Amino acid sequence: MKKTDVIVLAAGKGTRLKSKTPKAFIKLGPKPLVYYSLRTFQNNPGITNIILVVPKNKQKVALRLIKNNKFKKVSAVIPGGKERINSVNNGTKHISKQSSYLLVHDSARPFTTDLLINKILRQLKNNRAVIPGIPVKDTVKYSDSNNCVRKTIKREKLYQIQTPQGFRTDLFLKKIKNRKLGRSIYDDSFLVESNYKVKIIDGESINFKITTKEDLRIATKLIK
Ligand code: CTP
Ligand code: MG
Repeated sequence: MKKTDVIVLAAGKGTRLKSKTPKAFIKLGPKPLVYYSLRTFQNNPGITNIILVVPKNKQKVALRLIKNNKFKKVSAVIPGGKERINSVNNGTKHISKQSSYLLVHDSARPFTTDLLINKILRQLKNNRAVIPGIPVKDTVKYSDSNNCVRKTIKREKLYQIQTPQGFRTDLFLKKIKNRKLGRSIYDDSFLVESNYKVKIIDGESINFKITTKEDLRIATKLIK
């Protein structure tokens, strides 16, 4: 079987959530937010190795969570970096030997389904990079600095992009190693899109990212 690694990112602060606890360790129902993605990847037979990236002062807490829940696929719990891309980069150091595919996932998305993961893995057989996206439904406007409309954007070709994002491991490792430092990096596929085709597949609305207090309230209702 092909080896598939997943980097689960949980090293963010959660500034927009305005909480003291780092976002991934805030309780969603009975468990910390990061628990839900770990459980999904642990139970998905297509995943062979999980690398968990957390804030430095949460490594012990994370190790206990993994032990208590028998998340045996987690081979490394490592500290994150300043920006998301630095956390991803730290994670890539622990990818297993002869890994074929790599998924990068935000633990801030607790409701990722096996259906979505399996679709990405299937598409990786014919594509080097595969990302889930949802076509933009609302009208989109571009504003000036005073919150006034400058223009209306055609939404026909616009997508809201989610994680997990999937890559051929060798390609992703090459691209992250050779990235230009100091340039803003929007997501993981941004590293490869200027040279390679990145396939967008249908994302899922339920796979939303918990960013604000309102998102957390909605997620708490869904868990119940
Ligand atoms: N992340 C990370 N390391 C960072 C920044 C972000 O591992 N230095 C992770 C977060 O834990 C999260 C994912 O990247 O799972 C997406 O980031 P985001 O939703 O922006 O989370 P935060 O950065 O924690 O939130 P905020 O931007 O509001 O501070
Ligand atoms: Mg952030």
